[in-house]
Amino acid sequence: MIVLGIETSCDETAAAVVTGERAMLANLVLSQIADHAPYGGVVPEIAARSHVEHLDGLIARAMREAGLDFADLDGVAATAGPGLIGAVMVGLMTGKAIAAVHDKPLLAVNHLEGHALSPRLVAEDLDFPYLLLLVSGGHCQLLLVEEVNSYRRLGTTIDDAVGEAFDKAAMLLELGYPGGPAIERAAREGDPARIALPRPLAGRPGCDFSFSGLKTAVLHAVQALGALSDRDRADIAASFQRAVTDVLADRTANAIAVLRDSDVEPTALVVAGGVAANTEIRIRVESLAGCRGLALNIPPPRLCTDNAAMIAWAGIERLARGLVDPLDASPRARWPLDEDAGLAEGAGVPGRLGRKA
Ligand code: KG4
Ligand code: ZN
Repeated sequence: MIVLGIETSCDETAAAVVTGERAMLANLVLSQIADHAPYGGVVPEIAARSHVEHLDGLIARAMREAGLDFADLDGVAATAGPGLIGAVMVGLMTGKAIAAVHDKPLLAVNHLEGHALSPRLVAEDLDFPYLLLLVSGGHCQLLLVEEVNSYRRLGTTIDDAVGEAFDKAAMLLELGYPGGPAIERAAREGDPARIALPRPLAGRPGCDFSFSGLKTAVLHAVQALGALSDRDRADIAASFQRAVTDVLADRTANAIAVLRDSDVEPTALVVAGGVAANTEIRIRVESLAGCRGLALNIPPPRLCTDNAAMIAWAGIERLARGLVDPLDASPRARWPLDEDAGLAEGAGVPGRLGRKA
């Protein structure tokens, strides 16, 4: 089985060709970071226009690298949401056009399902159900991945996503965008115990997250210090990263306990999303998984951040189960994986339509 994957939900234009035998024949990602950096975040209109400009050429390159024609494909998988609606439309419409012209099945993939299934693209032996900590610029969720197309959300953020918190803290420290790698770099020289920051919701029951109070505490620390020295920046970055790590570990430990209380034994703990690139977080979840007797699986960075190989792979998993979509499948700005999960307790109306998944 060979599937073309297309990903355009936010600020990466991506195309990939993947086989059912887990070979990535092509996996191309064009980042728009430079286009959005002056604004400190992703600008939806710029993202959509850039996808229009680059996607056709990128797909052609991916097919060339794979050494295939469209006629050789068994399906076309495109992200249909959640994400910036204009950006999602570009990829989905392109996928539909290729599928229609070449008479191939269309797989309208949920971007979050792409992240959720991405570890199975590299780990053949990763069986369902597994616990997924999804930490990205647009999401912070704990999900039980029960099967393809079957998810139970155990917790989500009631305000900011964790990557968004990294980006905002970095902006307050004038460290640039994207903030995660910048905070991690600055934190290397810093003292994580110097600045007292809160651990929102840690120690409380449940598996939800909250990061906006932590961001406000960083703002207050910055204001209290006045003109920041490099040492101040490093110490705040290290203190912030430690606080985030403590919160992620606390909530994940609760999720493991909640599952075991209901007699569900996950086969592994999987961490995915751009924030999974963070070394302190990786080390902490590794030790948590070890303490709880759980295998840990973190996909390689190029599969953790947004990419089209994970969309092609989700397409392959869906195609194998006959989960094909009609050519009038709609693009969706919001699309929870667990449609039955309500809003997290205390959650306000999401005001982050410009964020990614
Ligand atoms: O998964 P991703 O590439 O895009 C989506 O949001 O879907 O994640 C991007 C997010 C950004 O907020 C970025 O600041 C964060 O991941 N990030 C990191 C690191 N690398 C990227 N956060 C913490 N530490 C890092 N090393
Ligand atoms: Zn993503």
